[in-house]
Amino acid sequence: MTSPLPSRFPYAPGSDGTPRLVYGADYNPEQWPREVWEEDVRLMREAGVNTVSVGIFSWARLQPARNTWDFGWLDELMELLHAGGIGVDLATATASPPPWLTTAHPEILPVTASGETVWPGARQHWRPTSPVFRTHALRLVRELATRYADHPALVAWHINNELGCHNAYDYSDDAARAFRTWLRHRYTTLDALNHAWGTAFWSQRYSDWEQILPPRLAASHPNPTQQLDFKRFSSDALKEHLRAERDVLREITPDIPVTSNFMVMGGTKGMNYADWAAEVDFVSNDHYTQPGPQDRDELSFSANLTSAIAGHRPWFLMEHSTSAVNWQPVNLAKKPGELARDSLLHLAHGADAICFFQWRQSAAGAEKYHSAMVPHAGPDSEVFRAVTDLGRTLEALASVAGAAREPARVGILFDWDSWWASEQDSHPTARLDYRQEALDWYSALLALGVRADVITPATDPGAYDLLIAPVLHVVPEALAKELTRYAETGGHLVTTYFSGVVDENDHVWLGGYPGALRELLGIRIEEFGPLLDGDTVELDNSTTGGLWTDRITVDGPEVEVLARYRSGTYANRPAVTRRPTGRGSATYVSTRLGTDGLAALLPELLGRAGVESELPESARGRVETVVRRDTESRYLFLVNRTEEPVPLPGLTGDLLAGGAEQGAGAELVLPPRGVAVLRSPVTS
Ligand code: GAL
Repeated sequence: MTSPLPSRFPYAPGSDGTPRLVYGADYNPEQWPREVWEEDVRLMREAGVNTVSVGIFSWARLQPARNTWDFGWLDELMELLHAGGIGVDLATATASPPPWLTTAHPEILPVTASGETVWPGARQHWRPTSPVFRTHALRLVRELATRYADHPALVAWHINNELGCHNAYDYSDDAARAFRTWLRHRYTTLDALNHAWGTAFWSQRYSDWEQILPPRLAASHPNPTQQLDFKRFSSDALKEHLRAERDVLREITPDIPVTSNFMVMGGTKGMNYADWAAEVDFVSNDHYTQPGPQDRDELSFSANLTSAIAGHRPWFLMEHSTSAVNWQPVNLAKKPGELARDSLLHLAHGADAICFFQWRQSAAGAEKYHSAMVPHAGPDSEVFRAVTDLGRTLEALASVAGAAREPARVGILFDWDSWWASEQDSHPTARLDYRQEALDWYSALLALGVRADVITPATDPGAYDLLIAPVLHVVPEALAKELTRYAETGGHLVTTYFSGVVDENDHVWLGGYPGALRELLGIRIEEFGPLLDGDTVELDNSTTGGLWTDRITVDGPEVEVLARYRSGTYANRPAVTRRPTGRGSATYVSTRLGTDGLAALLPELLGRAGVESELPESARGRVETVVRRDTESRYLFLVNRTEEPVPLPGLTGDLLAGGAEQGAGAELVLPPRGVAVLRSPVTS
């Protein structure tokens, strides 16, 4: 297991100096008169809040003009918080450039693919590659770091805010210049770039680096490798900004840990966080649920993936909501119990800090209808009572701080390159949804009561008995070899439609699909058979496929056909195949089965890999389990996924917290939306 305690995680110390879970919020006191601050600190203490993020959108207040600084209010606030025993995760305040800067330097404003300027008026209106923006941002970072370097309230630095939330793609001339530099670094020669981009096609051959542009609005589909490289470049450009701010902070305050809040959640695609994680001292994430049939599963999936990004070390939940947000078409309030359940599910997946956006609900501005820990109604409210209850629960769970997530036996591989490449335009279908396919596998495992880890390419696949790699579209030669070795040394690999098809340059592996994985899977596909919206095909294992089919020819005598198409163009041909590879196997699923279909298929795949649910049969599908452990204790988190009470016969341990009731005969009963944490001693 990975070393559990990241030495640079800002645990809030308890009264006896032992690590406690962090509890807090974004705190924006500049929106409030001074007298409210005292009440804020008093209420924070009442709620058990021990850490707040300050200054995230304070640039205009801290630096009202180019050479005018105003730190007085922040000095006072830092003192007040410190006196109240509350630590500060201090933002570098660079997320929203002030009007004086954008007026003097409109050349820092981002430009869309069709050449429109993204004007000030909201936030994050800056080009990640603007040298002018960089100079001003780093000047602010230096001032802040120097001023607060030795402040006792300072527990961590918070770089910018959700880098790329609104400015992930910028097509400006600055971006064009930086893109060329990035490409020179990647390819060295123009010949190599011309080859990688396949510029023999449509007369796109470049004879000078200066001719290369971002994939701006074009007459038809821009070059696919140019598009893919621009995605890689854009993620790197934001990462570069993160590094630049971090380097200033490390120079001035080498002992203060640095983080930046990621957005591992549905709807965010632009930033390759698996690749960013090494740049920060601890990983932080923001997560907001979006109502839908899989919203609970999506929260779990994102938290699980964040844990992998963090190298399976504890991480910081920097933001989530106490109740409604303001940016969805309809913003639902959370139901009773949801605030705690969402928080504890993040905790179960390795979050040692549970924080919200934001502390006090704004009275003005675009987020005035976004919930907070102290709502418009004030502290005499259900939300604030739920907030203080959660504070007490987190105190009861303090011993979990630092415990690692216990690895599951099933891994789901999540790969940004395949995500970006598989969803590009000019493909067999425009309907493919990479994250949804991965989430469906995860939901199916939850439905069967089987724990799984969502992992990144940096995770060792050898740790998993069953490795599911949905839509693993980009397979460079080295990855094909690694997966072959995995399966040949006893691992059970499962992959799906549109996998193995291209290399890292988005060039098709020739000779038949699934290209790089053809031999391993022992099948050959000559043509894809995507389905029109609403069209489905029946399989002979009583499941139904959508989105995609493949015309599969079995290419090896030992390959088993686990299911055939019963209807559609490929009726009677194989739909799901499995090739034994010594002690392991390689399975291919050629259609989108959805959660129910996958839940029907998975028992066979799990059975062959020897993986079973750890839950009593009656609780499978109704309860999610996650395990954390340290050298002394194993913490079993049991999360009720339903709106009904769920009895948990046979599960024992020391019930630490989470609103479960002991039913008749000491049987544990999880209330609707409830969470229980059972601690048992580690025996081996
Ligand atoms: C995040 C952001 C916060 C706040 C929140 C609202 O994207 O970091 O500042 O806007 O969303 O849900």
